[in-house]
Amino acid sequence: MTYNIALVKGDGIGPEIVESAVRVLEKVGEKYGHTFNFTSYLAGGCAIDACGKPLPEETVEGCKNSDSVLLGAVGGPKWDTLPGNIRPEKALLGLRAALGLYTNLRPARIFPALKSACALRPDIIDRGFDLVIVRELTGGIYFGDRGRREGKYGPEAYDTEAYSVMEVERIARVAFETAQKRRKNVVSIDKANVLETSRLWRETVHRIAAEYPDVEVSDMLVDNAAMQLIRDPSRFDVVVTSNMFGDILSDEASQITGSIGLLASASLGATKCGLYEPIHGSAPDIAGQNKANPIATILSAAMMLRYSLDLPAEADAIENAVAGVIEDGYRTADILTDPAMEPLTCTAMTEKIMERI
Ligand code: IPM
Ligand code: MG
Repeated sequence: MTYNIALVKGDGIGPEIVESAVRVLEKVGEKYGHTFNFTSYLAGGCAIDACGKPLPEETVEGCKNSDSVLLGAVGGPKWDTLPGNIRPEKALLGLRAALGLYTNLRPARIFPALKSACALRPDIIDRGFDLVIVRELTGGIYFGDRGRREGKYGPEAYDTEAYSVMEVERIARVAFETAQKRRKNVVSIDKANVLETSRLWRETVHRIAAEYPDVEVSDMLVDNAAMQLIRDPSRFDVVVTSNMFGDILSDEASQITGSIGLLASASLGATKCGLYEPIHGSAPDIAGQNKANPIATILSAAMMLRYSLDLPAEADAIENAVAGVIEDGYRTADILTDPAMEPLTCTAMTEKIMERI
């Protein structure tokens, strides 16, 4: 089969890690007889530099017309002082909205060989964990009304959180269906003791839960969830939450796996075309130095094979190759715990993974 993949390399380490995932996909193509046609599009800071806006129409069109999108990362200090509507991050939000990608799946699990890189106490980590955060991605405070105005104490700024019943229903369904394929447990995270959007969220999740009697559901307040994630991550299977809470909790979840350089994500909507990206950012401090960990992007490519291209055996091959390399002790700088060891470069890690496919 032939697949058309849009590449949005972005800024900072984006180009290096996307290039790594492309090489791995090409290896998969060779081995399994697929052709991947890659077309690169600009978004983020590099697009601001090239054409004055973070998300050119051509990029949106190209992504919409592809079978799937693989994205690196956007943003960097160079563009940090621009006004909100032309910041690089706007490209990411704009792409998610334009492609209708309301679901963000962020799996986090511990590789047994990386226990020593994990920040948790050994007795906690020995229980292991394997969870997936189902983050609502096109609503909430990220997309609500915002602005500046004169307030009670002079000039003020505001952002608003709104959720419709429809938006909560559809993300709840994704969570329950995800749980049905896993350990059949959903924890819905909100701040229902304070926020009205959370009360609507909670009531809607429970109404939808009735359609999935085989799945156990419970609620947790987000402050408590932040604590439980480090106290006992093994208790979570599927976590469903709003856009902003999901953003924050997924960074926390990444740290308990050892490094943010390991976590992949899939953004999905009503069509098969998804957007796949590492959950980490553009890491400008190490950009262009061949030091980045390509694993999160490579695992994002595996998610793309599984969810958008229906190639589960090929996805397994990538995931097994990554697990094998970690098991064999290969480490990039971010997951290196033995000071006597030399870290692998981004390209060397990529090649180790390719060898195992
Ligand atoms: C993420 C990122 C983005 C988000 C930023 C870059 C807009 O932090 O994908 O988690 O907040 O969604
Ligand atoms: Mg984030």
